[in-house]
Amino acid sequence: MAFQPTSALKFERGKQSNTQVINIERVYLPHGDEMININQPQIGKEEIEAVVKVLKTGILTHGLGAGPKVVEFERLFGRAMKAKHAIALSSGTAALHSSLAAAGIRPGDEVILPSFTFVATAEVIVFRGAKPVFVDIDPDTFTICAEKIEKAVTKKTAAVMPVDLYGLPADMKPIREIADKHGLKIVEDAAQAHGATYMGKPPGSFADAACWSFYGSKNMTTGEGGMITTNYDEIAGTARVMRSHGEKEKYMSLMLGHNYHMPEIEAAIGCEQLKKLPKFVAKRRANAARLTKVLEKTKKLRLPLEPKGFKSGWYLYTVKLKSAKAQKRNALVEKLRQEGIGAFVCYVNPIHLMPYYRKFAKHRLPVTEAVSKQVFSLPVHPGVTPKQIDFIGATVLGLLK
Ligand SMILES: Cc1ncc(COP(=O)(O)O)c(C=O)c1O
Repeated sequence: MAFQPTSALKFERGKQSNTQVINIERVYLPHGDEMININQPQIGKEEIEAVVKVLKTGILTHGLGAGPKVVEFERLFGRAMKAKHAIALSSGTAALHSSLAAAGIRPGDEVILPSFTFVATAEVIVFRGAKPVFVDIDPDTFTICAEKIEKAVTKKTAAVMPVDLYGLPADMKPIREIADKHGLKIVEDAAQAHGATYMGKPPGSFADAACWSFYGSKNMTTGEGGMITTNYDEIAGTARVMRSHGEKEKYMSLMLGHNYHMPEIEAAIGCEQLKKLPKFVAKRRANAARLTKVLEKTKKLRLPLEPKGFKSGWYLYTVKLKSAKAQKRNALVEKLRQEGIGAFVCYVNPIHLMPYYRKFAKHRLPVTEAVSKQVFSLPVHPGVTPKQIDFIGATVLGLLK
């Protein structure tokens, strides 16, 4: 039977909560204890001092978005991600949008992406006047399935947007091979993958451009903010021009652009956060390993894995409640939250089932739809102590009995 996106959506309605947000504020429980948030910005005196220093200089921004702190942050971030160019922007969404423009994506083009991602990955395609083509994910890694990409390629396909979901890189080598075979660009959504590696290399190494987010919940943050890394001069040049109203020099627009500037204060925070990133990710990794040791005691959960050659940045520690319906998963998440554990579901609604995007959905995506009903994430951010990890593990085990 042909796919009926509208009825699929009706089926979901009322069964899943749409009200959750990734908590980055402090939340207190009725008995006064603090919720262990799913993620929490790790801000120290270094960031505070760096911000004060910028405020004292009085240089808060730059006409072309390239103030001294932005330039420094770009240099440091590009070096850390082993990329020739790094372009700082106002958000990860701005990075995705600018990358697609710089990669030459035009109205009428098709862009292949997973539906199991944050909506920004799809929305920037539509903003380019192009068409999002959703394909299914791998049932084990939850990242886009390379074989299914190839099946979705048409004469109109111009690019692929793999997403490094939960911090685990997409399987980029086969994706690069397919892209080269069909002459496609790759814009990698690395918004969640700071500190990850694939075949020993940072995200972006197999892509035309990689896009990063520094939103408050991310492995490193500037509050809001984003970055493009690329080894291609042309992509970098266009992205820089697009960042600033299409200007290379003031009042001389060469193309349609935006105000996608990163403020100097944010760049100053970014420089400090980047220095701490290896420690942050090591802590996430240690927390994830400790939690796995506890949760291995139950057969009811499918635990997150790192295939050979992949290293996750552990943005989210995401488990799958085997053969469960959404209701059962949601009830478990609610109970965990009542216990002070900020369990969280990414993503309750795959994009192709969202009201605005269902018009782009051609087929059902059985793995995506099943996984979205069964996954939930547990806190492993650097602020979570080993004792809290043991508490999280024991609480999950207790509720699954
Ligand atoms: C996978 C993914 N893509 C894109 C974005 C958009 O980034 P931003 O919120 O910085 O615009 C995010 C994060 O929020 C994300 O998680």
